[in-house]
Amino acid sequence: MKKADFEDSPSGTLVLTERGQYAFVPNPLPPALAPGLLADLNTPLAEAAAAVGELNGLGRLMRNPYLLIRPLQAQEALTSSSMEGTYTTLDDLLLVEAGADAPVRAADTQEVLNYRLALSEAIASLAEIPLSLRTLRQAHAQLLSGVARHRGTAARAGEFKQHQNFIGAYEIEKARFIPPPRAQALACLDDLECFLHREDRQGLHPLIDAALIHYQFETIHPFSDGNGRVGRMLITLHLVSSGVMRHPILYLSPVLEGRKDEYIDRMYAVSKAGDWAGWISFFLEMVAQAARSACTTADRLLAVEQDYRSRLQQAGRSANLLGIVDLLFQTPILSIPQIAEHLGVTYPAAQKNVRHLVDAGVLQEMSGTSNPRYFVARDILNVISGIDHAHARPSH
Ligand SMILES: Nc1ncnc2c1ncn2[C@@H]1O[C@H](COP(=O)(O)OP(=O)(O)O)[C@@H](O)[C@H]1O
Ligand SMILES: [Mg+2]
Repeated sequence: MKKADFEDSPSGTLVLTERGQYAFVPNPLPPALAPGLLADLNTPLAEAAAAVGELNGLGRLMRNPYLLIRPLQAQEALTSSSMEGTYTTLDDLLLVEAGADAPVRAADTQEVLNYRLALSEAIASLAEIPLSLRTLRQAHAQLLSGVARHRGTAARAGEFKQHQNFIGAYEIEKARFIPPPRAQALACLDDLECFLHREDRQGLHPLIDAALIHYQFETIHPFSDGNGRVGRMLITLHLVSSGVMRHPILYLSPVLEGRKDEYIDRMYAVSKAGDWAGWISFFLEMVAQAARSACTTADRLLAVEQDYRSRLQQAGRSANLLGIVDLLFQTPILSIPQIAEHLGVTYPAAQKNVRHLVDAGVLQEMSGTSNPRYFVARDILNVISGIDHAHARPSH
């Protein structure tokens, strides 16, 4: 990290690390945003807020928002992890979530499943405890639990960094960015927590807060690894806890993934040159895109649900079959014993239901599974994996 690039930064200060490198310590939030800058953000803010409003409206109309929540979380887990070099497929993720062994890349699949579980537990925790550093440490603990480190950094699950970390190179001398040393990072985190809990919003829209908070978290880089993923969970957690989102149905990684370099460069430009306008407007654009894309996903999932219900009508619909359809939106890959357990029916009864669903074209047996065999609702998986931003709803 070049000292000259940061010594005049309006957004933070440089301190020397133990090993004599310069590290960047961000100023506490909020930055002083000039009135002209806030005025420039009005249009992207209005667009993002409109898209979020439409998504909230859709969520409110849904009989069962989990029809959307679980698929979006699976999508978020896959894309947020893949941005950090941890890859699996949707089939493998859902198979492992359903209790099967991962056929390949078992460690990565486990890590992606950890992400999904950490995310949904952190969201559930908001009903009990306010969003805090504790929430994030717990999410980190779950994200990295049982994960053998392969990238050299022994990340202690659930614990803030012990050693100086750095970004964008394999040796600190070549690092593009050096975040604060542990002591300063801990102080920055306390300030960030105060910002999360502050009473006086100082006129800042919570969507703009989200942009500030994400930048701040990433720049502090409090963990030795997992900062990108926990920081992206923090976006949704903040939106839910601040009341912007009524249900947890807005996730940014699917759209950030396609603009990863710009995403990082724009945060870097805040640290280097105080370019808040560039970062915040980019972030708001990502919010708008993610919200529109989630609306499209909701439309498609609702269409699949309609289609399944009408097919079952022909197959002589029973409460059990409809119960399985509901379950499939939460776990689109299931075995007969799981269905039997969920419905509280015997194995043969569940088997008969599954046969109906296979005949109706709702379920397909997954090749390569046995003892138990797994069945997949392929249409649901196609919607989740085919989230196609080019075909997202146009903005109104
Ligand atoms: N110059 C930078 N300034 C602030 N944050 C950055 C910068 N470069 C990268 N990041 C953030 O760091 C994340 C990667 O950090 P890392 O701890 O490896 O996350 P993970 O383990 O989840 O892989 C990126 O996704 C991005 O959010
Ligand atoms: Mg990493």
